[in-house]
Amino acid sequence: MNSKKLAALTVPSFIPFDRTSCRPFYKQIYDGYRAAILSGRLQPGQRLPSTRALAVELKISRLPVINAYEQLLHEGYIEGKIGAGTYVKDSIPDELAAPVLVSDSAGRPGGPPRSSRMARADSRGKNMSVEKELLGPFRVSLPALDHFPHQVWSRLVSRHAKNLSADLMAYGDPAGHLPLREAIAKYLRAARAVNCETRQILIVSGSQMALQICAMALLTPRDAACIEEPGYPGARYALRSTGATLIPIALDGEGIRVEEIASRGKKVRVVYVTPSHQYPLGLSMSASRRLELLDWAQQRRSWIVEDDYDSEYRYASRPIGALQGMDTNSRVIYIGTFSKVLFPSLRLGYVVAPPLLLNKFIRVRETLDLFSPTLYQLVLTDFLQEGHFARHLRRMRSVYLRRRNALVEGLGRHLGELLKPCNADAGLHLSAFLPQGMDDLEIVRRIAQREISASPLSACYMSRRPKSGLILGFGGSDESQIGPAVQTLSKIVRELAR
Ligand SMILES: Cc1ncc(COP(=O)(O)O)c(C=O)c1O
Repeated sequence: MNSKKLAALTVPSFIPFDRTSCRPFYKQIYDGYRAAILSGRLQPGQRLPSTRALAVELKISRLPVINAYEQLLHEGYIEGKIGAGTYVKDSIPDELAAPVLVSDSAGRPGGPPRSSRMARADSRGKNMSVEKELLGPFRVSLPALDHFPHQVWSRLVSRHAKNLSADLMAYGDPAGHLPLREAIAKYLRAARAVNCETRQILIVSGSQMALQICAMALLTPRDAACIEEPGYPGARYALRSTGATLIPIALDGEGIRVEEIASRGKKVRVVYVTPSHQYPLGLSMSASRRLELLDWAQQRRSWIVEDDYDSEYRYASRPIGALQGMDTNSRVIYIGTFSKVLFPSLRLGYVVAPPLLLNKFIRVRETLDLFSPTLYQLVLTDFLQEGHFARHLRRMRSVYLRRRNALVEGLGRHLGELLKPCNADAGLHLSAFLPQGMDDLEIVRRIAQREISASPLSACYMSRRPKSGLILGFGGSDESQIGPAVQTLSKIVRELAR
């Protein structure tokens, strides 16, 4: 730990201490430190002055200083022991990391306007909006829309749109259209080795809703939830919207480190994982790690949320069966989506809920949004039942393989020494590390000006020491776009590396 001391002999300027103010002394100290930590003015590892020294400097008793430090410790901003040295913490709980408007809020009676947990959960996502609006090469989470079987799809849409009977136009089943649930259960058993019955399938508006249902059904503000580090920001937003504490857990070559989860004690109620194709790094969880995780969940009576968002596409080996299929104790909630295998604006996905959670999940789903549009559920049912889905997947594998090869080859040729790709054997994206210290957000901003839309890897980290890198989607860009885009990217990375 870096034990660089703060200038301990004068009152730190970020504490606008006013002894005539009606705000209690401890609160003024607490607010000053909190804002300085969140704004990055105080860096991880920096040592705080002792409570005694600060009290002397402020010419107040030690008690308000101790109270302020205790509050900061309790809320996870600092670590150590009061009296024996306290330091700014390396990683702060994500829900605490919402931006603080220091100058605006400090003097105003009642402080800043209050926002709900859900609104706060979104605030960090603004960083990523740069690339969200662009549909250029490397756009993450985009399938090959140019290969979508539009004719078949529009025939099925018009078939159902013409014949919607009154009962299909009225309210639908919150769990979803039964034939669609049957078709999905059949597909999951055969293709993903998921162990499920139709009644366990719940149709939702994509994985994001599935994650929100898990969060709302399983977590309270007193609970802790673990998430892979780096991990999927969408899961982070959903899980922390409930006020639960999020704990980032490091990965090693086999997947999430279960021993680190176990060391966090019995309050960990949910663990979110992407075992088939870790988002964003792309590795798959080893069989022994899967068993270890399942064993831990069973012993602790905790839940595992398995996000199987793009495992249909593997290029070097056969698709790996779902973790859910190995679970003999019904501790896994399995989530899947049609966003990658069909298209994201369809907003259809599914949850395979353990029988114990089924009714609760349906109630939460109804609260969020009564049910998914019946018309598209009917269309998708036919698309699955008539074999179009299986055909589409088969065709897309070779399309994605070509795109992935073009990207790997281009990166090797133009950026070999600057960008170190992670595993690219599956899915629709590839992550690559930049040299430490390079600002990935700046690269993303600059390439966005050239209509190229990668995502910054650092946005997937909760800790304040993220790795720098790029997440490059190849699903939505054909080979003729990939080559020139790699060259532009290479130019920009080299400019910044200089
Ligand atoms: C890890 C992960 N889960 C889920 C999704 C898909 O979300 P949705 O089904 O809400 O479109 C994505 C999309 O990018 C993802 O990367």
